[in-house]
Amino acid sequence: MSKRVRKAVFPVAGLGTRFLPATKSVPKEMLTVVDRPILQHVVEEAYEAGIEHCIFVTGRNKAVIEDYFDMAYELEDILLKRGKTKEWQALKADLPKPGAMSFTRQQAPLGLGHAVWCARDIVGDEPFAVVLPDMLTMPRKTGGKRCLAQCVEAFETHGGNVIAVEEVKPEETHKYGVVSVGDKSDSTFEITGMVEKPPQGTAQSNFIISGRYILSPEIFSILERGEKGSGGEIQLTDGMKTLAHDQKFRGVNFDGQTYDCGSSLGFLGANVAFALASPDIAPEFRALVKSLLNAPQD
Ligand code: UTP
Repeated sequence: MSKRVRKAVFPVAGLGTRFLPATKSVPKEMLTVVDRPILQHVVEEAYEAGIEHCIFVTGRNKAVIEDYFDMAYELEDILLKRGKTKEWQALKADLPKPGAMSFTRQQAPLGLGHAVWCARDIVGDEPFAVVLPDMLTMPRKTGGKRCLAQCVEAFETHGGNVIAVEEVKPEETHKYGVVSVGDKSDSTFEITGMVEKPPQGTAQSNFIISGRYILSPEIFSILERGEKGSGGEIQLTDGMKTLAHDQKFRGVNFDGQTYDCGSSLGFLGANVAFALASPDIAPEFRALVKSLLNAPQD
């Protein structure tokens, strides 16, 4: 079995109800952060981590995602005819290698665990990454490693399964999957327990599962059972909990900030943070934000 993490699964079949009405006709993964869809940002994060093949688990109304990663013949032709070579080159640069992306369907949004299971045949018998596309990550230091690269590094050091985590306020833990913390070494620690959306005040720690995973293929036979958990959905956290009886899990305390772009507040935060980190527009954008903050309030 190959030990390198070559493939990443991007579950994009959710309904995005927290972002209605926008998500009525636009998948939330295609909403724009600064100058590109959220999905493009996470695919770039995956490439940086050494991922060679991206697997998208799509659903109804998500066809635009497949089109986005395809060649746009007419558009390219018009750009060239109009002498817009810079724009044409940018499109070319973002085009994936032929055969390096796969698309499969989750026919009904039965939960994240079910979406990951839908990718089983394309992943095969090797460790793989799962990337939640609505979570955008930014390293604390400019030029630092992004979250998935930090997870792959932990996997190469410790093996087993790896989950990116981050600390939140205790009153926030009931909204997320939460892990219990065991022995620590470097910036990682042994995970001794997991629970999906624990009732308020019952979480074992403030470390929440933040949307990047390296999993071994044995997870698929567990998810295949289709056991329902929190919210009546087939939860990935429950599957990992069962796998943890036989295999080790490590938490990577991501050195950076995660923005939950599935909510309007997180999405706006991501736009501000990514704009301030974009050299082309940062100075003007900073001035704009300052002037808005200083404007008199009613
Ligand atoms: P979320 O719960 O954040 O996404 O799932 P959602 O269900 O689209 O959003 P809300 O809560 O209704 O606003 C995390 C990720 O898992 C995918 C989603 O697309 C999202 O990227 N997902 C979730 C699936 O692919 N299938 C599912 O059945 C559930």
